[in-house]
Amino acid sequence: PYKQRLLVVANRLPVSAVRRGEDSWSLEISAGGLVSALLGVKEFEARWIGWAGVNVPDETGQRALTKALAEKKCIPVFLDEELVHQYYNGYCNNILWPLFHYLGLPQEDRLATTRSFQSQFDAYKKANQMFADVVNEHYEEGDVVWCHDYHLMFLPQCLKEHNSGMKVGWFLHTPFPSSEIHRMLPSRSELLKSVLCADIVGFHTYDYARHFVSACTRILGLEGTPEGVEDQGKLTRVAAFPIGIDSDRFIKALELQDVQKNIKELEARFAGRKVMLGVDRLDMIKGIPQKILAFEKFLEENSNWHDQVVLLQIAVPTRTDVPEYQKLTSQVHEIVGRINGRFGTLTTVPIHHLDRSLDFNALCALYAVTDVALVTSLRDGMNLVSYEFVACQDSKKGVLILSEFAGAAQSLGAGAILVNPWNITEVASSIGYALNMPADEREKRHRHNFTHVTTHTSQEWAEMFISELNDTVVEAQLRT
Ligand code: UDP
Ligand code: G6P
Repeated sequence: PYKQRLLVVANRLPVSAVRRGEDSWSLEISAGGLVSALLGVKEFEARWIGWAGVNVPDETGQRALTKALAEKKCIPVFLDEELVHQYYNGYCNNILWPLFHYLGLPQEDRLATTRSFQSQFDAYKKANQMFADVVNEHYEEGDVVWCHDYHLMFLPQCLKEHNSGMKVGWFLHTPFPSSEIHRMLPSRSELLKSVLCADIVGFHTYDYARHFVSACTRILGLEGTPEGVEDQGKLTRVAAFPIGIDSDRFIKALELQDVQKNIKELEARFAGRKVMLGVDRLDMIKGIPQKILAFEKFLEENSNWHDQVVLLQIAVPTRTDVPEYQKLTSQVHEIVGRINGRFGTLTTVPIHHLDRSLDFNALCALYAVTDVALVTSLRDGMNLVSYEFVACQDSKKGVLILSEFAGAAQSLGAGAILVNPWNITEVASSIGYALNMPADEREKRHRHNFTHVTTHTSQEWAEMFISELNDTVVEAQLRT
């Protein structure tokens, strides 16, 4: 059967490369929600264009890596070290990421940041043009080009300037903040104008879409309509497309022998204790210190639970060259050490903190043995960890404590216990409530979430976005 050709353009390829020799590479699955959701999408003839996460200065290396990636249907964009520093560490992850998650512009070295802003923005535009060049090289007529995330807000404009007939969609995996926040960005208008060059612009939630439309009306003075944003008769469609996971993949994994063995080992290891779980990239937005402090407060107030509960926190290292992330790592280590010192015994500690990633099977086993999952994001576009936990809980029916500031609160709100992660008293008492919840209430809450997670999958998300993009282009042709 005919499958539509799709060029998926994202800063991060689904595999990251590690160099093993002059012309040999090994490829590892990249972390993060964008990659895991898109890996679930199989109904298109898809090719990925993006950065492999390494600096490859020599031609031999570039040729060998291009070949290795081609087997995974991936096409690399090579960014040199200085560009990665300015574009990825700088503009993307020190400016756009914190701002879009309401953490403001960098507080320390404010003047230095302000001065380097222009050079970082120039690097951002340059990097986006490099992604566009690779797209143009591989584009065939009729392809759909799907651009992803805050790294590539300049890409729609670069693509349309080169070929106005290209079908271009852009999807944001983070929140889009209130226009009052967006307007702090020195490059606020340029970014909005470029995104509007796409045929369709998508967000996880209706609120993010509405914020984007208000930014366009207030900052650019354009007209917002129920369909999107209009500029002199030209419409850019703006809509919400909540992402999901490949739930079958998780449900099926639980049957695997390897996973079953893993589950048995974990159950034996933590027998007699309730297991609480956190799985996050070690990122400021995840509220990891807040989560651990709430757990400490719970222990403080409930001495009967001391050796009956354990918190497993998987903290996947991420963006380790950005100073804010380095500071967070030491801050979290300090808190965990203090609490384990305070409540640990010679044989047990209350918190197991792991600074590393887990492979898929190990992760599924952990999700399956968990009694209470804790997601305390201060802001989060969607948060797929909460979906993955629910998918793996059909026999255990554990409880999800979920931040009201995660996009997922809008879809899993009725089944989860929603909390304000800044309110440590509230989170601590929710932990107690969750640990003591009777089976019938757990069952009811789980049922609600499980139904949602298994019916709103990443496959459907992608199909809806692409079919809406195709429709939008047809309608635009009819209008002219
Ligand atoms: N994940 C991973 N490696 C790990 C643990 C988790 O890649 O060791 C995955 C996890 O399964 C999930 C994603 O990382 O699919 C995190 O997505 P989420 O939307 O929760 O947050 P993001 O990291 O995108 O901010
Ligand atoms: C979030 C972003 C993704 C990003 C991922 C991992 O999910 O929305 O675009 O790929 O984090 O971060 P990294 O910087 O390693 O790509």
